Amino acid sequence: MLFEPIEIAGLHILNRFVRSATHEWLAGDNGTPTPAIGDMYEELAMYEIGLIISGYSYVNPAGKSSQAQQGIYDDRFIGPYRQITGRVHKYGSKIALQIVHGGRQSLITPEYPYTLAPSAVKDSSSGITPQAMTEEQIQRTIEDFAQAVRRVHAAGFDAVQLHIAHGFLLSSFISPYTNHRTDKWGKSVENRTRIIAEIIRRAREMVGEDFPIMAKMNATDGFNDKGLDAPECVDVAVALESAGVCAIEVSGGIFEAGEVMSRPGINSPEGEAYFRKYARMIKQGVSIPVMLVGGLRSMAVMEEMLASGYADMVSLCRPLIREPDLVVKFRKGVQEAECTSCNRCFDENGIRCNSEIVLNPLI
Ligand SMILES: Cc1cc2nc3c(=O)[nH]c(=O)nc-3n(C[C@H](O)[C@H](O)[C@H](O)COP(=O)(O)O)c2cc1C
Repeated sequence: MLFEPIEIAGLHILNRFVRSATHEWLAGDNGTPTPAIGDMYEELAMYEIGLIISGYSYVNPAGKSSQAQQGIYDDRFIGPYRQITGRVHKYGSKIALQIVHGGRQSLITPEYPYTLAPSAVKDSSSGITPQAMTEEQIQRTIEDFAQAVRRVHAAGFDAVQLHIAHGFLLSSFISPYTNHRTDKWGKSVENRTRIIAEIIRRAREMVGEDFPIMAKMNATDGFNDKGLDAPECVDVAVALESAGVCAIEVSGGIFEAGEVMSRPGINSPEGEAYFRKYARMIKQGVSIPVMLVGGLRSMAVMEEMLASGYADMVSLCRPLIREPDLVVKFRKGVQEAECTSCNRCFDENGIRCNSEIVLNPLI
């Protein structure tokens, strides 16, 4: 099944492999996408990834959350992105841009010495308490996301992915851990997902009904005893589908919960696909395609995820940093990715696999 095509809202995708959004630390000043990012995506396209999802790209400078992160907050980015989409399309792969606002996980800078969130819940990993957003700030953010969707469309991307995972702004609206509001943006799932419904409604006014709007969502924040988790994540997914999301990628974890999103040390089939139980529940609740990310390493487990109804597509991040040609290798009979999930690919000098670098040869 992994090599069978699939349609997402009319978008034809060659196979079931997704390159999960991966921040590359390769953007220029102020978020400008560089040819080096194009080199990376072109290589992935050449090696037959069905759908490439870009690194997270910020919709407003106040929502930047990493150095050398891509931006999509200004029309001047449309040209450079158009060059990148053109390079990918030569090979038949599809490409989506992931858009984000960092929310309570944004960088503190002299220009933006504050972070934003639905409620003023201190982030224990940074020690920073965000500002609770005003109605005006929420409306501005909806417009920022919608304008970003317009730019993504204009730059020739095949789809956009809203980043509603990992504790960033939209994810913090969804989570009861970070959203304590009692107005129309809080409490019920309908209210907590309202910001996404509003973004899509406004974006549709500009890009029409056909442009695929996908989402990567947290199924769990990653705490054992609080925050978003099953079974409520299914209600969230259903609400996202009603809002017009056409495919859901199931992930989890916020910064405060530790290494939940990119779990280290995946070395057994049981350890693979660590969000699988959530994906299956969500898949049973929605009728749109579901992508599963997190610790997929072997062909056997990936096949099982599709054949046993956990997901419609498999999404990979760290394995494709080590082996951009992995899908071709799989097609030719390789059974397992080489990735050891050591997480040394989080490299501010530009992502790369550093697993074989000897840190201190004297020890
Ligand atoms: C270096 C690096 C950068 C990442 N950047 C993003 C990102 O920009 N957006 C996102 O949604 N997830 C990001 N992730 C998370 C991955 O997309 C993925 O959800 C996670 O690593 C689990 O999948 P894996 O086991 O295949 O690596 C990143 C992960 C890594 C290792």
